[in-house]
Amino acid sequence: MDFEFSEEQKLVRQTARDFAQNELKPIASDIDKEHVIPESILNKLKQMGFFGVYIPEDYGGAGLDYISYIIVIEEIAKVCASTAVVLSVHNSLVCNAIYMFGNEEQKKRYLPGLSRGEKIGCFMLTEPGAGSDAASIATTCEDKGDYFLVNGNKIFATNGGFKGIGILFATHDRSLRHKGIDAFVLDLVSDGVELLRNEDKMGLRGSYTSAFALNNVKVPKENLLDGYGNGFKIAMELLNGGRISIAAQALGIAEGAFEMALEYSKERKQFGKPISSFQAIQFKLADMAMKIESARLLTYRAAWLKNEHKNFIIESAIAKTVASETANYVVKEAMQIFGGYGYITDYGIERYYRDAKITEIYEGTNEIQKLLIAKQLLK
Ligand code: CAA
Repeated sequence: MDFEFSEEQKLVRQTARDFAQNELKPIASDIDKEHVIPESILNKLKQMGFFGVYIPEDYGGAGLDYISYIIVIEEIAKVCASTAVVLSVHNSLVCNAIYMFGNEEQKKRYLPGLSRGEKIGCFMLTEPGAGSDAASIATTCEDKGDYFLVNGNKIFATNGGFKGIGILFATHDRSLRHKGIDAFVLDLVSDGVELLRNEDKMGLRGSYTSAFALNNVKVPKENLLDGYGNGFKIAMELLNGGRISIAAQALGIAEGAFEMALEYSKERKQFGKPISSFQAIQFKLADMAMKIESARLLTYRAAWLKNEHKNFIIESAIAKTVASETANYVVKEAMQIFGGYGYITDYGIERYYRDAKITEIYEGTNEIQKLLIAKQLLK
């Protein structure tokens, strides 16, 4: 058993950390307030190869391993969870969709541009009537010979506002439930694709969460990913991997909030002493650190399993659940350590509090993760 990172992984961590701490941290609060990630930040992420972290260099990516990718998400999320989620959905659910399930022609056509961040990817599975029950999607795709005619509505599509590339799920026969679902690559600047709105959210306010109407969209036949009827399996397998990056995002949020609370507890004096000298605070710091360490080990183990092409369905669901619960525990305790100041936006900790909640909800609620774990155990 080896708990050491490779030299390459350490270098990736240092690069991501330097960027996050020096360039992203000073503006993270503005990103949250203004609901936009500046072009200069996106350009820097592109230059560092963070839009195609584990896509092989042959397809224009950085060619790193999955653990390096998880390191990048963790370091970015420590200071700005909005920026982390842009990279997470783009890499895990879009680049990976084409890399894992695309044919050679699709890989050559889409991966270089996606890896360079020229187009930013979004995942179009969820609908107003189909969230946890993903097999019940109602967006239809009709085979019209050389194209599919798509009609329906999609919501909660992270990154949709960039109007780049979508991985779209639609059904050719609803009565078949999951067996009737197909997956497509969709250029979001296509006739009939209407961006209805970007949601106003509690947290991750610098990222887009978008709703689309799809009216008679003609999706070329060659944009079908993998075989006819394989869309649900594709979605499930992508989400298995995506959940490790949500775990990394939650881990980063927890670590960022913990570091702030630790520093604050040493500076803040009450009753003539730093509050860190009181056991009430020390117990909190120790509990936070223990939970973070558990989440970290689970997240890296799941990433390692994926990297080694071993089965990781249960492990990714466990990592996502534990890390997101940890993030929510830690931000709550960090707020408590900050006391009244934590409630004031200038201190920054309330942003972590708001950003943490969604990690227990998206890419499958934690209740869905438990269902998934139980289904695998009972197989
Ligand atoms: N990995 C691989 N295969 C899986 C799987 C998994 N995690 N879960 C299910 N499957 C397979 C099953 O083995 C089964 O295969 P067979 O047909 O060969 O038997 C098939 O899929 C159907 O499985 P179930 O009967 O278990 O399916 P179900 O309808 O009962 O639902 C579910 C299973 C786990 C609840 C699934 O619907 C699910 O994961 N729901 C959550 C969806 C989700 O995470 N949505 C959020 C998307 S993210 C988003 O929208 C926002 C964004 O931008 C990030």
